[in-house]
Amino acid sequence: MSRNKITVVGAGNVGATTAYIAAAQNLGDIVLVDIVEGLAEGKALDIAEAGGVQLYDSKITGTTDWERAAESNIVIITSGIPRKPGMSRDDLLTKNVQIVKETSEKTARYCPDSIIIVVCNPLDAMVYAAAKVTGFAKNKIMGMAGALDCARFSYFLASELDVSVKDIKCVLMGGHGDDMVPLPRFTSVSGTPITKLLDEEKIAGLIERTRKGGIEVVNLLGSSAYYAPAAGTVKMAEAVLKDEKIVMSCCAYCDSEYNAGGYFVGVPAVLGKNGVERVIELDLNESEQAQFEKSLAHVKQLAAKVDKLL
Ligand code: NAI
Ligand code: 2OP
Repeated sequence: MSRNKITVVGAGNVGATTAYIAAAQNLGDIVLVDIVEGLAEGKALDIAEAGGVQLYDSKITGTTDWERAAESNIVIITSGIPRKPGMSRDDLLTKNVQIVKETSEKTARYCPDSIIIVVCNPLDAMVYAAAKVTGFAKNKIMGMAGALDCARFSYFLASELDVSVKDIKCVLMGGHGDDMVPLPRFTSVSGTPITKLLDEEKIAGLIERTRKGGIEVVNLLGSSAYYAPAAGTVKMAEAVLKDEKIVMSCCAYCDSEYNAGGYFVGVPAVLGKNGVERVIELDLNESEQAQFEKSLAHVKQLAAKVDKLL
């Protein structure tokens, strides 16, 4: 059986960390692509040398040349500017849409059979842009955000309840922004919904911290998070490459699902060898549906801006 080939576009904080985690998990051979001469090459060499300690055999190539990425099974697009303190994710749209346009065109040309995982922000709009530029089947394009937002919510809950994060099952929907929709009724500790374990005020506080989780790190670091985002991205890639059929919150195409009307937005979905294999439709109550619709309306506004720029 041939080895998986994973291209990570952007050798910055998220891209290089994604490549490192994927290599350490022996997910396949990795091509790291950047436009800055020497950057991807240097990071790839460093990651390859770490294999001498950690004993992984993934081949890691750093390059500015997309031909090296040809025929990848998965392309992970992290190329894009990150936000600085005082910026929202939406402030990145005008610049990043051009970068996503370029990298999506290259993906369509060199890796026409790949599955794409978009990471750069504003996430839902960049997934929309990648879908528009590549014309790939909708199930083959997804975005990483729910994995990160769930990871944050799960970590906060595990700390609050003093339980292992392994026992938390988290579901979260909507766009990757301040109006994301954590779902306490569907979030549980070994089967017990958190609404039975914590009072409303405590849950509201943890939801607020999750919604602001990105900016909390930006304000500390001066740039955005990358360890947790990279871990979430590799988990999605692994689900696809190993045909795991696991349910993860991710940015997926929804048409009749949740009455979204043909947009990419955060929902729970089954990930396997065909990419997004199925969107899970939860029985939302009125308040949850209203929150989702508000978040979706924002995603649609950003998609309209993408339409004007592409
Ligand atoms: P970074 O600045 O460290 O890395 C970005 C890299 O992309 C740079 O090395 C740059 O040279 C490269 N690049 C720019 N244009 C390119 C092109 N046309 N082709 C190839 N490479 C190109 O930024 P970082 O921290 O890695 O973040 C990357 C993006 O991911 C940002 O937009 C950030 O907002 C987003 N992000 C999204 C998250 C999510 O949950 N979806 C989480 C964390 C970051
Ligand atoms: C985050 O939530 C930057 O979107 C990224 O950390």
